[in-house]
Amino acid sequence: MSDQVDHSRRRLLTAATVGVGAVGVAFTAVPFLASWQPSARAKALGAPVEVDASKLEVGQMMKVVWRGQAVYVVRRTKEVIDQMGKHDALLVDPGSDGSIQPDYIKSEGALRSIRPDYWIGLAVCTHLGCSPLGAFEPNNSAQVTGVDLGQGWPGGFYCPCHGSKFDLSGRVFKGVPAPTNLTVPPYSFGGDTRILIGVDSAPKKA
Ligand code: FES
Repeated sequence: MSDQVDHSRRRLLTAATVGVGAVGVAFTAVPFLASWQPSARAKALGAPVEVDASKLEVGQMMKVVWRGQAVYVVRRTKEVIDQMGKHDALLVDPGSDGSIQPDYIKSEGALRSIRPDYWIGLAVCTHLGCSPLGAFEPNNSAQVTGVDLGQGWPGGFYCPCHGSKFDLSGRVFKGVPAPTNLTVPPYSFGGDTRILIGVDSAPKKA
C-alpha cells in the first residue's frame, strides 16, 4: 500500500495539475501496531491504516488508501481555518446533519476535524464518485481545469466531472449536483503527525 504526498507549493495547488496524480513522494503505510501486523486479507477487509504525515507541509495534501477507498489528508493553513464557518450561508449542509461522519467530527462544527490543522475525508465526490481536485488557495479566483471558482472562493475541492464544489472541510456548496458533504471516515491521532484511519477517536474528557 502506498501513499502520495503533493509537494507542490500552496499556490500551485490551485492549478489544474493538482490532484491525485500530482508529483509526489511515496510514503509507506506502517502497521497500526508494531506487535500486530494485519494480514493482507485483513487489510483488504478494512484494517486500520496508520499515516505518517510528518512530511506534509502546511497547504499540502496527501492521499492514502483505506478499505479500498482513497482518503485525503490535508494540512490546512491558518487563513483557511480562520475563514471556515464564514461562508455557511453558501452551503447545502453547513452543520453536516445529512452527511456522513463520526459524531466526534460532527460535533466540531464547521471544521469537521479532530484538529483544526488536519482535515481527513474520502476522496469520493458524493454525486457519482469522481475524485475532487484540491483548489486550496482562498479568495483569488482560483482556477482548476480552466474553471474559475470565483472571487471569494474560500479554498476547497472541485470535482471535474460535473462541477461540484466543496470547502476545505468537505462541505458542499449550493447549486452543484453533489447532494451531501464529503464523507469523513473514523480516525484518531496516534501521535502529533500519526493518523490512524479506521480507528475511532476516544471521546473527549469532560
Ligand atoms: S461526480 Fe462529482 S460532480 Fe458528479
